[in-house]
Amino acid sequence: MRMPTQRHQFAASSRVLHWTMAAMILTMLCIGVAMVASLANYHVLVSIHRPLGIAILILVVVRFVNRQLHPLPPFPATMSRAERLAATASEYTMYGLMFVLPLVGWGMLSAARYPIVLYGSIHLPYILPHNVMLYAVLRKAHTILAYLFFLTIIAHFGAILFHTLIVRDGIIKRMAPWNIRAQETATIDSSTAGSPARGSPESTP
Ligand code: HEM
Ligand code: HEM
Repeated sequence: MRMPTQRHQFAASSRVLHWTMAAMILTMLCIGVAMVASLANYHVLVSIHRPLGIAILILVVVRFVNRQLHPLPPFPATMSRAERLAATASEYTMYGLMFVLPLVGWGMLSAARYPIVLYGSIHLPYILPHNVMLYAVLRKAHTILAYLFFLTIIAHFGAILFHTLIVRDGIIKRMAPWNIRAQETATIDSSTAGSPARGSPESTP
């Protein structure tokens, strides 16, 4: 039988990956904006931006595999069908962006034939042919996708705040870095009682 902490919380590995990657992605968005705004620190910032972005690319593959291995907890019953669809769509959008954005960054530097230094003498290989037009398109795409990511994160953050502070269904506890105790699951227990597993055909009311 599965314990309440396992049933109503994401797996420990999912929670570690969620918060580690959230910190890395928010740092990347800030570094990206600072990089193009301040030429004074450009070289320092870009030398952090490249390896951190590649680390995100590796971690999102690990995270995706981890998500397939650990069944997700059911959605709380307080979430309407529309909210469940929006939550699922935003999760897939974020996974897509965590994968595509670093690849576009790597691809644009490849197309421009800039040296892609990770650390010291460690360089990444070029993944695209030398083409200035391709560089221009990917450079624009990198900006647009980064700001789309920023908007999706704000919507995600807003939805979690709405459920935590207004609906008060304790949704934040599902992703809490620590294991939640039995009495803390009370709100989630009552709101998910009888809910089918997420991902099953009946999981949307
Ligand atoms: C860069 C920022 C973030 C990204 C990319 C992100 C991404 C995700 C993804 C993909 C999921 C689905 C579970 C999974 O597959 O891991 C998720 C769930 C969740 N996130 Fe975030 N997240 C971010 C920031 C935050 C922040 C700042 C909060 C705090 C308010 C938060 C709270 C949650 C919670 C509570 C869940 C579980 C939702 C549920 O119960 O279904 N996330 N997040
Ligand atoms: C999740 C990963 C990433 C995020 C969130 C991100 C975000 C950003 C943002 C917000 C900007 C500023 C865009 C603008 O205002 O025009 C930027 C610029 C840039 N990014 Fe990324 N990036 C990521 C991955 C990468 C990777 C993996 C590389 C290269 C290997 C890279 C290379 C660059 C470069 C070189 C610039 C500045 C280009 C210039 O000076 O014109 N990025 N990034």
